[in-house]
Amino acid sequence: MITYSAPGRVNLIGEHTDYNGGFALPIALPQRTSVIFTPAETDTLTVRSDLAEDPVHIPLDTTPGQVTGWGAYAAGVVWALRDSGVPVTGGTMAIRSDVPIGSGLSSSAALECAVLGALASAAGVRIDRTEQARIGQRAENDYVGAPTGLLDQLSSLFGEVSNALLIDFRDITVQPVPFDPDASGVTLLLFDSGQRHGHVDGEYAARRASCERAAAELGVPSLREVQHRGLEVLDAISDPVDARRARHVLTENERVLDFVAACAELDFAAAGGLFTASHASMRDDFEITTGHLDLIADSAVSAGALGARMTGGGFGGCVIALVPAKLTLTVGDAVRAAVTEAGYVEPEVSRVFAASGAG
Ligand code: GLA
Repeated sequence: MITYSAPGRVNLIGEHTDYNGGFALPIALPQRTSVIFTPAETDTLTVRSDLAEDPVHIPLDTTPGQVTGWGAYAAGVVWALRDSGVPVTGGTMAIRSDVPIGSGLSSSAALECAVLGALASAAGVRIDRTEQARIGQRAENDYVGAPTGLLDQLSSLFGEVSNALLIDFRDITVQPVPFDPDASGVTLLLFDSGQRHGHVDGEYAARRASCERAAAELGVPSLREVQHRGLEVLDAISDPVDARRARHVLTENERVLDFVAACAELDFAAAGGLFTASHASMRDDFEITTGHLDLIADSAVSAGALGARMTGGGFGGCVIALVPAKLTLTVGDAVRAAVTEAGYVEPEVSRVFAASGAG
């Protein structure tokens, strides 16, 4: 029997930069997805989840399109692992998870990385973590059909206690950066809006296509290649919407590096300001927030948060805020009140911190 688990993640800053070869700064969450795998002499993997009534039966020679729904993430990993030459054993897998689904905390990457770790362990194969992330991404891109980047898998695999991960997606390097706001009297608060999203729908793909068109028009393989040329470079993009999407990506990359510098100086007021600027850029230039998420972020800041931003792919999910510890309850209460007064469901508010990666 093999037990393996992988965490969800919160992206502190650097949204929609991963598929543009840019920078992001996620943390792994204490919430995890765990797998108990009992290998057997069979050509089927039977997967049960505490969140679903019926088990999913995955033939080991599965191909994209065969399994749908939540089981597609596990089936995608089976397919991508075999495709990269790793032998996969059948058997039964029991999955438990406390990573909320569809809330922008990477429940899908947590599931992929936990299943992948269990299957690779059973096969007695050691796979480099960056390669594991690529296999998880292939499962999601080519089996599930969501054109996502590498952010979520890298966060889940490389997570470290009390550290954020500075990821450079140009050469896929991951550098731990100390991140422990609690030690400075600042809390990282998470507001789960309860508004759910799915990346298989068109909006994520449309944002990605806009960025790719902008890069192509500038004659570069990814927007990262014009980062050093300043925002004037965007004047050469003919479509004004594509230009705004690209502006978000370039300014967001800068904010990631500025945020790392602010954290190094324990300047959480500056770090909070970057959260708020990032939210505005996602609202105005990238247009991936919603009125509901804007209200959570704005009311947190009005009540005394140092800054707040939506985290994850967008169109629902969670907002994070840096809050002076003594104002934690005040800010939580103010946001709950503003949100329910506007007729939305009450958000779930929790404190989060950087936790360990898959293993
Ligand atoms: C989703 C995707 C990631 C990344 C984020 C936005 O979580 O899975 O690859 O693009 O959105 O930063």
